[in-house]
Amino acid sequence: MKHCAVCHGPLGISARPDSPNLAGLSPNYIVKQLKLYRDGHREHELMNVVSQGLDDSKIQELADWYDSLDVEVTYWNPTKNEQAAQTCSACHGLIGISRNPQAPTLAGQPEFYLVNRLRALREGGKHLDASMVAIANHLSDEETKKIIGWYSSIRIQAYRP
Ligand code: HEC
Ligand code: HEC
Repeated sequence: MKHCAVCHGPLGISARPDSPNLAGLSPNYIVKQLKLYRDGHREHELMNVVSQGLDDSKIQELADWYDSLDVEVTYWNPTKNEQAAQTCSACHGLIGISRNPQAPTLAGQPEFYLVNRLRALREGGKHLDASMVAIANHLSDEETKKIIGWYSSIRIQAYRP
């Protein structure tokens, strides 16, 4: 966890605009993404290197550690384009805290990260969730901007119980 903290923060709340929060993500989702990076299916120069040395049991251990954190929403403002995210809430949760193990929590993710991720989802790729790729492709630039504004304006905090 220690070297993950440099970018993802000591309690999984991102320390850099390009790095997502890991607190609030399901263990199922974290395991899937780490294996995709390690095996070269999800491309990112930093994460492809970081995940190289991780075997399956280490990946599970990391995912379980992040899952052990408690996450709380500390700020959200419904006037900030909440409406725009209505269609996303079925899978990603009403205020972006997902209860669906396949769909990641979006609340509090850095704006820069969300912009990159939605761009990648629009470009598609066989490792990506097909329904999410279809959704990303149906969004206008205007809608995308509003939705990213909404999720990135929510604040979350993580605690070690
Ligand atoms: C040097 C900085 C850095 C370090 C160290 C690092 N990461 Fe990352 N991580 C990133 C960046 C940047 C991204 C976003 C990559 C992308 O856009 O695909 C990312 C993405 C991820 C994701 C995908 C999350 C999502 O929402 O899809 C997971 C899971 C992850 N990292 C886990 C880890 C773990 C576990 C460690 C420690 C073993 C670690 N990272 C160490 C920078 C880092
Ligand atoms: C039918 C369920 C579903 C709906 C509705 C949905 N998503 Fe997703 N979304 C997913 C799944 C599943 C993933 C994980 C993708 C993967 O593993 O490849 C995902 C991933 C994402 C990610 C990447 C997050 C990360 O941590 O890297 C973003 C950003 C995202 N969705 C945005 C949206 C937005 C914006 C909407 C509404 C316009 C939306 N989603 C609607 C299921 C859904």
